[in-house]
Amino acid sequence: MPKYNFDEILNRRGTNSLKWNVGENELPMWVADMDFRTAPVITEALQKRLALGAYGYSVIPDEWSDAYIHWWKERHHLDIRKEELIFSTGVIPTVSSTVRKLTTPNENVVIQTPVYNIFFNCIVNNGARVLENPLILKDGRWEMDFEDLEKKLADPQTSLMILCNPHNPVGRIWTKEELSRVGELCAKYGVTVISDEIHCDIADPGKEYVPFAGVSETCRRISVTAIAPTKCFNIAGLNTSAAFIPDRILRHKVWRQLNTDECGEPNFLAITAAVTAFEKGGEWLDEMNAYVRANKDYAIDFIRKNMPEIDPLDTEATYLLWADCRKATGPRTDLQKFIRKETGLYVSCGEQYGVTAGQGFLRINLACPRALVEDGMRRLAEGIRKYAAAR
Ligand SMILES: Cc1ncc(COP(=O)(O)O)c(C=O)c1O
Repeated sequence: MPKYNFDEILNRRGTNSLKWNVGENELPMWVADMDFRTAPVITEALQKRLALGAYGYSVIPDEWSDAYIHWWKERHHLDIRKEELIFSTGVIPTVSSTVRKLTTPNENVVIQTPVYNIFFNCIVNNGARVLENPLILKDGRWEMDFEDLEKKLADPQTSLMILCNPHNPVGRIWTKEELSRVGELCAKYGVTVISDEIHCDIADPGKEYVPFAGVSETCRRISVTAIAPTKCFNIAGLNTSAAFIPDRILRHKVWRQLNTDECGEPNFLAITAAVTAFEKGGEWLDEMNAYVRANKDYAIDFIRKNMPEIDPLDTEATYLLWADCRKATGPRTDLQKFIRKETGLYVSCGEQYGVTAGQGFLRINLACPRALVEDGMRRLAEGIRKYAAAR
């Protein structure tokens, strides 16, 4: 018997929620933010902290690093040492600060498109250049193009690569072999890897992600890994994460930049939330993953039965669907806007994740109660039908 009720519909309107800052009739299934109540143990711990009424500055206690160390050892079979962890206010602050520290203007940063749109900002805002290594879709499964990757890494202007592991939006869990090849190639050309592992705990039941730094000594040595409990426990607004950097010199550099950028100080709830999630949230997380998998099954089945021009492309990690709509759109880029206008369904537009690599795709967030998924699928079918009729 499930212990938690993921069917419960929370009314997030009027709470300054980024996701729900939409019109009355709109249904948001865009930004990677869940509509589930977080694990009750986390809420209880935060309420206890709030009850004191004194919200001053915080220190980072040993229990914070212990919680990460224990979770990664138990869940992901990776040994982390206390001194290898640095607190950061977010995964994106870590990515952005690391890009700033490790590149000079006009150097290349390789990313595997389609990929999380904010990576582009982290690169461009720091004066570096985006170098795309597009993923390849082979028999319904996304794969890395290693030949092209080597070319991009071999460019003398390339100094950094940002890996998304598991990958947002395509939902792949990269294998040990794939990650090892990435590590060897990056080491060969002197390229540092930032591995964004924020989605690591959102995986289908029975599936396990592979931490990049755990794959080989080379991967450990050349990597900055950004990890957090935020995405998988629905606590992203609490701004709590860690950078895991085994190499001492690299760690010192990133630590200095996080400090300079003032991203190294926790707010008064950040430590409590992370420690409680990792110490006591496991059972909730497992149920959440099973619920999301069932949502994916429902949505994929619905799309296959009702929208033959859409290929929902199953995912093994994340709560996202990366739907291939190219049969419906052809070369057009207006599908997402059209669906929002006609049906109120607000999903993410593929082109955000790479103008070419994402063209004709939609990203659909399924981390919500089943009734909302059902509503979303009905709206999607209506939108696709009207889109075809309007052409
Ligand atoms: C791959 C990836 N990295 C980072 C983030 C955001 O991380 P944070 O809120 O910790 O900056 C997201 C949020 O959607 C994401 O999908």
